[in-house]
Amino acid sequence: MSPAHPQPDPGAGMSWPALDGLARVYGDALFVFDGAEFRANVSALRTAMAAAATDVELAYSIKANNTPAVCRLALTLGMMVEVSSPMELWLVERLGIPGPRIVYDGPGKSAESVRDALLAGALVNLESERDVEWALATAREHPGRRFGVGLRCSLAGPQAGVSRLGFDAEGTTLDAVAERIAGADDISVIGLHSHVFDGSAGGLRARTAGLVRVAERLFPAGPEVLDLGGSLRGRVPVGRDPAGVPATTFSDYAAAVAEGLRPGVARWARQPRIIIEPGAALVSSAFCLYARVLEVKTVGDQDFALVAASILDTSPNARRVDFPVTVIPREVSAEVAGKAPMLVGGMSPIDGDYLALDLPARPAVGDFVRFDNVGAYSISMRPAFNYPAPAILETDGEEVRLLHARQSYEDVLRGLA
Ligand SMILES: Cc1ncc(COP(=O)(O)O)c(C=O)c1O
Repeated sequence: MSPAHPQPDPGAGMSWPALDGLARVYGDALFVFDGAEFRANVSALRTAMAAAATDVELAYSIKANNTPAVCRLALTLGMMVEVSSPMELWLVERLGIPGPRIVYDGPGKSAESVRDALLAGALVNLESERDVEWALATAREHPGRRFGVGLRCSLAGPQAGVSRLGFDAEGTTLDAVAERIAGADDISVIGLHSHVFDGSAGGLRARTAGLVRVAERLFPAGPEVLDLGGSLRGRVPVGRDPAGVPATTFSDYAAAVAEGLRPGVARWARQPRIIIEPGAALVSSAFCLYARVLEVKTVGDQDFALVAASILDTSPNARRVDFPVTVIPREVSAEVAGKAPMLVGGMSPIDGDYLALDLPARPAVGDFVRFDNVGAYSISMRPAFNYPAPAILETDGEEVRLLHARQSYEDVLRGLA
């Protein structure tokens, strides 16, 4: 099964013989995590954000990709982690991530998780009356211990409508909640949080400025913490800017934060710790998916390739089909590109299950296709549909390590009566 002539790798990534060997052990679809890329993203974002404020912390948003190795690496790199449900909190506690390195927000908190997170020393961003009740109850049950909490603000951004998450920043609810907590013993509001789905630099500037406005109302001397949430887009390789629009860079985001903070920085006696909660910006380019070509066929005038994965692996929620793709051939064929676009279909029975709308080279059965930039909201959002999730591997130079075995049927169907 080895190629007649060893072929050079098509760009970075694994060769066909290496992939074929791994696929025989782990399955014909393989996610591969590149820790060096994750580290480079962290370092680039940190460097850029250092220009925005004196004290900036990155809190990796594990909902983007909750693979334990990624969460552990984030901790090793000195990051905090941001979790948004009791399950995510359970995961990071189980991974041994210390409470003071955890930010806990999200609408589905339970009484136990709020209490556990506060007792562990996490920063809990309260975003509902329920959260407030449970935080106050925790303080009452532990007299003499000091608890500091954040309040999540619902702020509209240029590209985002009204957010259901958090307290209305413009109304009176937020101030009433802050007053109520101020009147309680052993607990105080130390900061504000906001996150909306708006990845523009203008959105981040507006969010920062909005939080500063609210902070001026609630903290005359300045807040201890301003948590600006996530929604930062990743680094875009040169030449891959979205059509006609220069991609937003980490420096653009940093400039947006600096500008949004300016009115507060000028007036406050103490400068707040700024927390940013990046998910996709760090993890999306750190994962690729290799999938073997199972079939090539023509229906009418249209050519199709079937690969051993589906859009439920690459983009289960957003259904994106614009990931960079590379064909890794077993043998270099004379027949490359130039024909009509080839649709790359997936393993699910959904007729519209396409992972890509064209390939740079025509594949043969047995070749692999690599889909880049698939690390964010893929693995963590994959539904259990009609086949198990692929294995996850990590590469570090020549070494390959299994991070998560391919699911078994039992894994997928566990608990069904
Ligand atoms: C509160 C919060 N912080 C951070 C993030 C991470 O967002 P992104 O991956 O777009 O950076 C999310 C995503 O939904 C979120 O809800």
